[in-house]
Amino acid sequence: MTQFKHLFSKVKIGNTELKNRILSTAHQTNYVENGIPTPEMLAYHVARAKGGAGLIILEAAAVHSSGMLTSHTIAGFDEKVIPAYVEIAKKLHQYGTKVFSQLFHGGREVVSSDYRNAAWSSSSEPSFRFGIMPRPMNIEEIKDVIDGYGISALMAKRAGLDGVEICCSHGYLPAQFWSSNTNYRTDEYGGTFENRMRFIVEILQRVWEYVGDDFTVGIRMSADEMTMDGTNVADAVKIVEYLVENVRVDFINVTSGDSSTYAGSTHIVPPSPIKHAYNSPHSFKIRMAGAVPVFVGSRIIDPVDADKIVGAGKADMVGMTRALIVDPELPNKAIRGDLQSIDACLGCIQACIGHYSRGLPIGCVQNPMAGKEKELLPLVQSVKVKQKVLVIGAGPAGLHASLTADAEGHEVILVEQSNEIGGLLQTMRKAPLRQEVAETMLDNYTRKLARSNIDVQLGRKITFEKIEEIKPDVIICAVGSRPYIPHVEGTDDPRVLTVDQLFNGNAGSIGKRVLVFDLMGDWPGIEAAIHLKEKNHDVTLYSAKVHIGKEIHQYLVNEYLKKLYQLKVDVRPHFDFGGIHNNQVKLRNLFTHESELINEWDTIVLATGRVPNYELYEKVKGMAPVVKQIGDCLAPRTIEEATYEGLTSALEIGVISSGIPV
Ligand SMILES: Cc1cc2nc3c(=O)[nH]c(=O)nc-3n(C[C@H](O)[C@H](O)[C@H](O)COP(=O)(O)O)c2cc1C
Ligand code: SF4
Repeated sequence: MTQFKHLFSKVKIGNTELKNRILSTAHQTNYVENGIPTPEMLAYHVARAKGGAGLIILEAAAVHSSGMLTSHTIAGFDEKVIPAYVEIAKKLHQYGTKVFSQLFHGGREVVSSDYRNAAWSSSSEPSFRFGIMPRPMNIEEIKDVIDGYGISALMAKRAGLDGVEICCSHGYLPAQFWSSNTNYRTDEYGGTFENRMRFIVEILQRVWEYVGDDFTVGIRMSADEMTMDGTNVADAVKIVEYLVENVRVDFINVTSGDSSTYAGSTHIVPPSPIKHAYNSPHSFKIRMAGAVPVFVGSRIIDPVDADKIVGAGKADMVGMTRALIVDPELPNKAIRGDLQSIDACLGCIQACIGHYSRGLPIGCVQNPMAGKEKELLPLVQSVKVKQKVLVIGAGPAGLHASLTADAEGHEVILVEQSNEIGGLLQTMRKAPLRQEVAETMLDNYTRKLARSNIDVQLGRKITFEKIEEIKPDVIICAVGSRPYIPHVEGTDDPRVLTVDQLFNGNAGSIGKRVLVFDLMGDWPGIEAAIHLKEKNHDVTLYSAKVHIGKEIHQYLVNEYLKKLYQLKVDVRPHFDFGGIHNNQVKLRNLFTHESELINEWDTIVLATGRVPNYELYEKVKGMAPVVKQIGDCLAPRTIEEATYEGLTSALEIGVISSGIPV
């Protein structure tokens, strides 16, 4: 008997019986070629079905050629998707997981395309975020798109999927019709509330005409678009009341956010530090208003929270999308009460939506296997000979390598010169907005280490004698990086600090006036500025980038900018640090090459990147049959590369024959 009696109770949604309440909501994998899901997408979802998810909603599938979000959008309206859908349905059903398709038209929201089609919408109202001005759809186009929803639902049904979700969330096309903020039409699809609702009502009617009663059809909507002018919870309640009165809707999947605005877009995939489960008060209101089953998601990562949400009647299904990206086995682990072995999502958004936005296949910082199931499972399944593995350095790369090697049955010794694990995570955990990311990752690894057979030796500097004594078959160097200091005058001034020194308490007296220099456009400079301003220093943040946070995903940049504005941090992009001359700090404009001098300052904080600790590898590379270097000591990059190289370097150890392909 499981402790999660609500989460693991069965439920009927429309015509679909679900074995539990755990849902993977629609999310693009970018594993789509010519409109068709690829075998990589299949392998990705099979892992989550095998792990016990009750329902998987496949990623947005365009209902019409005018509605492709990117060149890697599923062509849901085209019968060429059927064979791939058949395969997905067949494989997922083997694990008792049900599968829906998400029917999608972005309207004015077009992320990217090889050729920029004319964007369609209810009216010519721009998407500010993508800089797109759509043209108003004429009546024939409206009828054609409505028909596209019906045809796409039929494709899903013919392929053996269990249902469809019509995407009305995040300000996509149906919402562009129902919102008075975007719909300025004067015909029967605009003006009054009933007229603005006509588009979605006709979509649902047409879908039912195509699929018949023995299918499941619901919608996804943003209860609060989180914008200055868009739909709020009161509007959403009114929309739901009207819909359920006028047409059959089997479920409402509640989320928040809006694609067309910066602040709204954050909520499409909310990063840390946005609160866990923050949509569940909204879903409760929608459930009460509509008296139909409701799904809710966004930052729900803990089965305890998910169980409470169902138990309290706030939702019937709980979206745990990134929680399942990180740990596909979460449902199986939760049902048997093995909570300690669950890896939690960090909320970093780096490799899930971060990859999507860069046109790359889905990945995950904490689980580098995610999205690479097809490529890496044969390596996991290959026959290996047991090896003695010495891992030097317990940052994310070394930790991931050690734990993977241990799970593969090797003998692992992990040596770390500091007294704690984590490497740079120990710095990151002191950064105000990155704290949760670092602490969650540290917690994931700490719990795993405690359950492993790894011989963890903290506070020990590795020596040649020690290596000779261990006689490892494999050495993995994962000794990280150190701050890069620009080669300009004055950096040896004691008033010049690195971000590492600032956060690790080696700062001394900082004084009132602090200049922070960000060279790389990543989190350290911004976090240093926020940290100092919160402690009442006068802070100017200089950035050598076109805009602040240039290398960070937009949704997180939105949160950083909000914070910087709230704190009134003085932000100046386009300058680098030109050194200190006669007690004056030189700023150099990257475009004009003109310099400015600053006389009044007390402390300079440098966030100017990192250099690799490559020396150890050069010294030990002959001391074992296999010696590798991974993560920052190979080249300073991000945690994503660190965990990926940790995984792959360990999976390659001792392989003697290749595994069975998936
Ligand atoms: C890579 C990625 C792609 C996404 N694509 C879609 C999509 O196609 N349709 C959609 O409605 N939501 C999409 N989302 C949003 C998710 O469905 C979900 O609402 C979001 O990840 C927040 O839930 P979570 O905290 O459980 O992950 C996407 C999310 C991610 C991470
Ligand atoms: S990349 Fe980060 S936010 Fe995305 S699923 Fe992985 S841990 Fe979670």
